[in-house]
Amino acid sequence: MEETAKIIFEGKEYSFPVVRGSEGELAIDIAKLRAQTGLVTLDDGFVNTGSTMSAITFLDGERGILRYRGYDIAELAENSTFLEVAYLLIYGELPSAAVFDNFKKTITRHTLIHEDLKRLYDGFPKDAHPMATLGSMINTLSGYYIRDTSDPLDPVGRELSIHRLLAKTPTIVAFSYKKSIGHPMMYPKNSLNYIANFIRMMFAVPAENYAVDPVIERALDLLLILHADHEQNCSTSTVRLVGSSRANVFAAISSGVNALWGPLHGGANQAVIEMLDEIHKEGGGVKKFVALAKDKNSNFRLMGFGHRVYKNFDPRAKIIKKACMDVLDKLGIKDPLLDIAMQLEDAALKDDYFVERKLYPNVDFYSGLIYRALGIPTEMFTVMFALGRMPGWIAQWKEMIENPSAKIGRPRQIYNGHTARPFIPIAKR
Ligand code: SDX
Repeated sequence: MEETAKIIFEGKEYSFPVVRGSEGELAIDIAKLRAQTGLVTLDDGFVNTGSTMSAITFLDGERGILRYRGYDIAELAENSTFLEVAYLLIYGELPSAAVFDNFKKTITRHTLIHEDLKRLYDGFPKDAHPMATLGSMINTLSGYYIRDTSDPLDPVGRELSIHRLLAKTPTIVAFSYKKSIGHPMMYPKNSLNYIANFIRMMFAVPAENYAVDPVIERALDLLLILHADHEQNCSTSTVRLVGSSRANVFAAISSGVNALWGPLHGGANQAVIEMLDEIHKEGGGVKKFVALAKDKNSNFRLMGFGHRVYKNFDPRAKIIKKACMDVLDKLGIKDPLLDIAMQLEDAALKDDYFVERKLYPNVDFYSGLIYRALGIPTEMFTVMFALGRMPGWIAQWKEMIENPSAKIGRPRQIYNGHTARPFIPIAKR
């Protein structure tokens, strides 16, 4: 029997269907709300509003659950690789060995970027933020593959664009880093796997034989898996909204890169390290900063803490915290910022302000410490987040564009400006 929700308005009762997801989540389907009642809903920040049905990622914020296509994040982090998780997110199933082998070969074949696109880096100032470069480069890919991207409904062009995005993003990211330090760019090496190839493009120099450290390779694989998707977050919703106008996939994904850049979203991993650095410079005491985070008059927030959905531990934060200690231990690194982070976490989790608001460490709280240990500079942290989120953005865009009933996204509003008034010529003002 269909479940319904009733609204009583101006003495009339209206019924709307209730949708139940495969994990028991419930939503009121208000598709006919305005037609039946003349009402629209208002929900600042879409805190209570679902924008779509989706079969890709399931989050349970109260229980701290995260699954990609039904597989628990901890199992995938432990047993899978980033490229295999990318395949799972995009195509919905874990690939057989033969299928995955073919997928790896296809991705490897697309890792180069056009030499003219490489010349675009010359136009950026040396200290341009790498998120500016990444967003521009991803958007510019449409200039090189316009034939294959002009119709997002064409399955062949869509598949080719997906492979190009997955394959070229590590190259674009590594080239941005090399540009920022004035080093020669290292071309991709087809004999290496996805992560090893990226590490070599980031840290090798032409004059030497570079051996990829397996500890660094495994740590990066894990970090990218943990960032790969997170249902309808700010940047993914941006990708879906831009993609819903049938703009090409590179335009849609580059809009996601720009949304992720903000310090309240993916930019938080850079802001966490800057915050920990500031605490370290002031002697390492965390009490002052916990007090500042609680003070409404200070615009200071405990970066890496809190989450729109998780009102319990972000499962990714737990895994990253353990990986952080393992990596620092294996690489023999003593980072004072790790001690500060752990003191900060401990102090906050004992403080009523954070407990009452259910503010826990999120994915960004410890990730920057690992990137630091791997030799990745702070300004590159959010780009690393984008590299990890690429398969998620692609999978969500694909799910939307392949949905025959998908509409162009166009929210309503409640107007609260001036009512009608006559124009007054300037001579009379
Ligand atoms: C990501 O959505 C996703 O899935 C995102 C993400 C993904 O994988 O895509 O998980 C990645 O973006 C993680 C979040 C990274 N951002 C940060 O770490 C920045 C610091 N955190 C916050 O700014 C905040 O917690 C948000 C943005 C993450 C969530 O904000 P909400 O859901 O809009 O919550 P809110 O701002 O309404 O806060 C509720 C209360 C407020 O206090 P009161 O008005 O109730 O008194 O909690 C307070 C806030 O002031 N609060 C914080 C805080 N976060 C929330 N106070 C101090 N420090 C913080 N970090």
